Amino acid sequence: MALLEVRDLTKTFRAGRRAPVRTAVDDVSFDLEAGRTLALVGESGAGKSTIGRLVLRLVEPDAGSVRMGGEDLLALSPQALRAFRTRAQMVFQDPFSALDPRTTIGTSVAEPLIVHGIGDRAERRDRVVDLLERVGIGSHLLGRFPAQLSGGQLQRVSIARALTTDPELIVCDEAVSALDVSIQAQVLELLADLQAERGLAYLFITHDLAVVEAFAHDVVVLRAGAVVERGPVGELFANPAEDYTRELLDAVPYLPAL
Ligand SMILES: Nc1ncnc2c1ncn2[C@@H]1O[C@H](COP(=O)(O)OP(=O)(O)OP(=O)(O)O)[C@@H](O)[C@H]1O
Ligand SMILES: [Mg+2]
Repeated sequence: MALLEVRDLTKTFRAGRRAPVRTAVDDVSFDLEAGRTLALVGESGAGKSTIGRLVLRLVEPDAGSVRMGGEDLLALSPQALRAFRTRAQMVFQDPFSALDPRTTIGTSVAEPLIVHGIGDRAERRDRVVDLLERVGIGSHLLGRFPAQLSGGQLQRVSIARALTTDPELIVCDEAVSALDVSIQAQVLELLADLQAERGLAYLFITHDLAVVEAFAHDVVVLRAGAVVERGPVGELFANPAEDYTRELLDAVPYLPAL
């Protein structure tokens, strides 16, 4: 059984009461195994972020199901949903807006532990120090505010915060897209190391196929909310069946591993 089983997921939006219904996610199914990285790719508006939010139950689908560890997320009681929130976390593109500018780095990283009532003050502090060190942020930065750190450092802080509850799944929505290429490579290496250490699964949302090539195991190609094709990254990129995928690949200036 896969860690995450997404089946026939559909989500429509209406911009206003009289506006037409638009299908953002159209009958999407995929599996994600523990310890693996599945990339969701596709042009802007393809439905990638909406799928990420549906998987975390931040929005409700019109139809379809999401199972994690065999448990139907849509059937969870409010209490079970709270527990689920510790098992799956999200890392966003822009750490400046993901972190409260008036809250210190240390408190931001501790926040999920406080919210879920995990540990006492001293235990939480130890955990935060360990995690920040693990992501390459010295504990001397604990009392700093987001404006005092670089984008790369803040993304490491966001990763540490996502790890506090020891999740099995992290949804990364364009998590390295805003970073300089050299910093991007370092953060991807950190994510890969953390995956190897903890058996983490990543649902890796990106428009950057070079990053997918370097980082993901499997890929789902989306267009207008629907799956165009899917497969192991190496095979699919070497031999895309669909013109749409070929066009996405042609738009990449340089694929490092090809
Ligand atoms: N809350 C919302 N209300 C109305 N429409 C929405 C909402 N969220 C998403 N959409 C629409 O759903 C479609 C898919 O959007 P989504 O943000 O999932 O795409 P994406 O693949 O993440 O795009 P990008 O690469 O630009 O981030 C778009 O047409 C978008 O306008
Ligand atoms: Mg998006």
